[in-house]
Amino acid sequence: MEGGWPSGGAFLLCLTVNLLLPGRSNTFTINCSGFDRHGVDPAVFQTIFNQKDFRPVINYSIPTQVNISFTLSAILDVDAQLQLLTSFLWFKMIWTNPFISWDPEKCGAISKLTVTTENLWLPDIFIVESMDVDQTPEGLSAYVTNDGHIVYNKPMRVTSICSLDIFYFPFDQQNCTLTFSSFLYTVENMLLGMEKEVWEIADTSRDIVRTQGEWELLGINKATPKMSVGSSLFDQIMFYVAIRRRPSLYVINLLVPSSFLISIDALSFYLPAESENRAPFKITLLLGYNVFLLMMNKLLPASGTPLISVYFALCLSLMVVSLLETIFITYLLHMATTQPPPMPPWLYSLLFLCTSPGKCCPVALWNENTGPGLMSTHLPGLKEPGQLVGKELGSREAELIGGSGLTSTQLADLWVQFSHMMDTFLFRLYLIFLASSIITVIVLWNT
Ligand SMILES: *[C@@H]1O[C@H](CO)[C@@H](O)[C@H](O)[C@H]1NC(C)=O
Ligand SMILES: *[C@@H]1O[C@H](CO)[C@@H](O)[C@H](O)[C@H]1NC(C)=O
Ligand SMILES: *[C@@H]1O[C@H](CO)[C@@H](O)[C@H](O)[C@H]1NC(C)=O
Ligand SMILES: *[C@@H]1O[C@H](CO)[C@@H](O)[C@H](O)[C@H]1NC(C)=O
Repeated sequence: MEGGWPSGGAFLLCLTVNLLLPGRSNTFTINCSGFDRHGVDPAVFQTIFNQKDFRPVINYSIPTQVNISFTLSAILDVDAQLQLLTSFLWFKMIWTNPFISWDPEKCGAISKLTVTTENLWLPDIFIVESMDVDQTPEGLSAYVTNDGHIVYNKPMRVTSICSLDIFYFPFDQQNCTLTFSSFLYTVENMLLGMEKEVWEIADTSRDIVRTQGEWELLGINKATPKMSVGSSLFDQIMFYVAIRRRPSLYVINLLVPSSFLISIDALSFYLPAESENRAPFKITLLLGYNVFLLMMNKLLPASGTPLISVYFALCLSLMVVSLLETIFITYLLHMATTQPPPMPPWLYSLLFLCTSPGKCCPVALWNENTGPGLMSTHLPGLKEPGQLVGKELGSREAELIGGSGLTSTQLADLWVQFSHMMDTFLFRLYLIFLASSIITVIVLWNT
């Protein structure tokens, strides 16, 4: 009895000291005895659960440090029309709740527990660019460790606004920003940090994204500027996500067929100009190209003018131009074989200059056909008009035309020769234009 007073006094003193020093961490130590035998006693956590409406700090002047990281697990959609990037993230947050701590040695070495997130205070970190409500599933849990760290992982489908430039489609790269910031807490109350280094985030994400989809993750960079709204300053972490399109689908489905069609169009110049096949052949190609464009339209981005559209328009116009050229040459040949007009002297001298040795102009592709007197015999398509010319002009053969000392047959020959020369010249022009435009497009794509 006598020894009871001092020990009771010591107990009272101890209690008083404990009440006076609420900042000491052991004040909030959770009595975890029996966790390993009877499971967790919910009563010991009840005080913490009851505090979940308030930021868990002992001194409100101290900001809560929330460390974040994420793993980009998929790039679901890149919508150039709405300028939206839809991605899937595993988002991780770590912060400290100073009211939670226990001694694992007294609890059968239990050092972490899961707690449903409804019972915990959660940092309100959101993505500034997000254009969709947060669709986090209900009833997730978080890990709580014995020293008060709370580790919260959640899956997030993020539809974020991103300035997309599809000019270089399908060889385009995009650089989208994901800015993590608190919705409410200013820098006095919340600070953001990195849970992992940014290269670790990039490496893990690249490994996961690599296996799937149209887009390839190039890298992730970060910047940490503070955001000021009015007089308040918010902490934020910006991640720049650089992605690149895998172009093989588009190369196979868009570029290869279109290149085939345009090269066939170029080769169709080798069909003899006199044959009646060339124009129908080119019309068929043009039709085929139009069908191709219609079918491939849905593979192209719905908005903007990518370079590839310019390329397609260029191919289409080249095909139209080559068809027009064929019509022009057919007209020239027809004119030459039915009623050749007098040849202007300058044209005659030009023709003479070009066919003489030491030519200044391109050699006609069908030089061997342009010998005198060929039309009516060598050209099945033009046989009738040729014969007509022969008959009509036969009677007046001796008559000299235009005072140039040429018979009408010779004149017709000259015109045919001129047509072939024009054909060759225009073909070369076409080739030069085709080559230069393709080179331009390729150079633009490579920059
Ligand atoms: C912890 O709780 C157990 C019963 O659950 C009790 O026997 C023990 O004395 C408590 N320990 C402390 C330090 O309060
Ligand atoms: C709370 O923190 C601030 C800043 O660290 C400090 O000045 C202040 O004394 C603290 N208050 C108490 C009661 O410890
Ligand atoms: C957050 O990161 C900082 C710096 O890396 C570190 O000092 C702090 O302990 C971390 N906080 C938590 C809760 O992990
Ligand atoms: C993305 O854009 C930001 C700024 O707009 C820049 O700092 C970053 O280097 C860019 N990333 C890549 C990979 O181009």
